[in-house]
Amino acid sequence: MLNFDFYNPTHILFGKGRIADLNKVVPLDAKVLILYGGGSIKKNGVFDEVKLALGERQVSEFGGIEPNPTYETLLATIELVNTNKIDFLLAVGGGSVIDSTKFVAAAALFEGGEPWAILEKRGNNISKALPFGTILTLPATGSEMNSGAVVTRRSINAKMSFNSRHCFPQFSILDPSKTFTLPIRQIGNGAVDAFIHVIEQYLTYPVNSPVQDRFAEGILKTLIEEGPKALVNPEDYDVRANLMWCATMALNGVISTGVPQDWATHMIGHELTALHGLDHAQTLAIILPSMLRIRKDAKREKLLQYAERVWDLRDGNDDIRIDAAIKHTQNFFEQMGVKTHLSDYALNAECIPAILSALEAHRMVSLGERRDVTMDISRQVLELSL
Ligand code: NZQ
Ligand code: ZN
Repeated sequence: MLNFDFYNPTHILFGKGRIADLNKVVPLDAKVLILYGGGSIKKNGVFDEVKLALGERQVSEFGGIEPNPTYETLLATIELVNTNKIDFLLAVGGGSVIDSTKFVAAAALFEGGEPWAILEKRGNNISKALPFGTILTLPATGSEMNSGAVVTRRSINAKMSFNSRHCFPQFSILDPSKTFTLPIRQIGNGAVDAFIHVIEQYLTYPVNSPVQDRFAEGILKTLIEEGPKALVNPEDYDVRANLMWCATMALNGVISTGVPQDWATHMIGHELTALHGLDHAQTLAIILPSMLRIRKDAKREKLLQYAERVWDLRDGNDDIRIDAAIKHTQNFFEQMGVKTHLSDYALNAECIPAILSALEAHRMVSLGERRDVTMDISRQVLELSL
């Protein structure tokens, strides 16, 4: 096992009716800004519930945060925070709203010039951030219990991530019943994103980490079992609860302790979203199967373990079992309603050069757990994803 630091201070309040507990976790004298997206929380009653739970506190709101949030939108939020001397942020939504809140929390107190510098330095220049909490409405990204965020600068088509120990939510409220109103497309996206987060931390090379491996395999198997049930019966509380906790556990730092990490699929996926507007999970579902096929030899031992323990594949030689495991993975994404080819999204080979140029511009030229995913490998992966 590799050396590691594990730090995660986020307080999780899980279960039905937990929004009422906001009263216990937001300071009574806080000047609160509620951040939210395109309005789903106003339609499904979550916003009213939040307002009620905040009681007499001074509350203002900022709505209209878009999926794959933009720097341009968030500049206006930072201004609002500073002008109104807001001292507590409350994100109510999915990964886009939570990521935005992390960025605003850090940018509002940033002393290093233009806030875009935070993305350029990937968060290493953050020394403080406003306190914030989250109310999760879409299980997918794990942002509710980690310190990372992704922001897009529309003017230059750059989707960049940052990370800072100052950007953990103080608390996150996870009420699975608040996910009942999710559109089918977002249920599928959420399960696929969480699944691929686990894969990026698990499917690398062995370092003798049986606890992390079995945690990872447990999350994968649960997503495979529960994901399709949510599509058929969207108001099954237990299914939603299990999916929600899977997504959080998939990217809160537990399964990445002491193991190598890949993330090449995510980095290529971010360029696809920045250039073509695909949903985050759609990009991953396109790239991952090809990434595994092209890097089959480098990932051979873990692929065999994955085939046996996650998909129960025991017959045939090594290559047959590996190929079948990748095919099962791809079928699972399709079963969740997330298409797995560039052509499914009206993209063809002509899009590849621009994606490669963007990877190069963002210094994503040696990706993966061994830093051996060169531009040439990324090109092969994209070609195989057509
Ligand atoms: O904006 P509203 O109207 O709220 O609608 C949203 C949005 O259109 C809707 N939605 C959310 N909860 C709902 C709901 N609709 C009905 N009922 C509900 N309960 O869902 C749509 C998508 O929301 P979004 O927040 O964009 O989705 P997601 O949670 O998948 O977040 C994606 C973003 O997170 C980043 C992605 O790159 C992308 O920008 N990621 C963040 C990570 C992190 N911080 O650790 C890791 C991930 O790999 C990912 O990169
Ligand atoms: Zn992701």
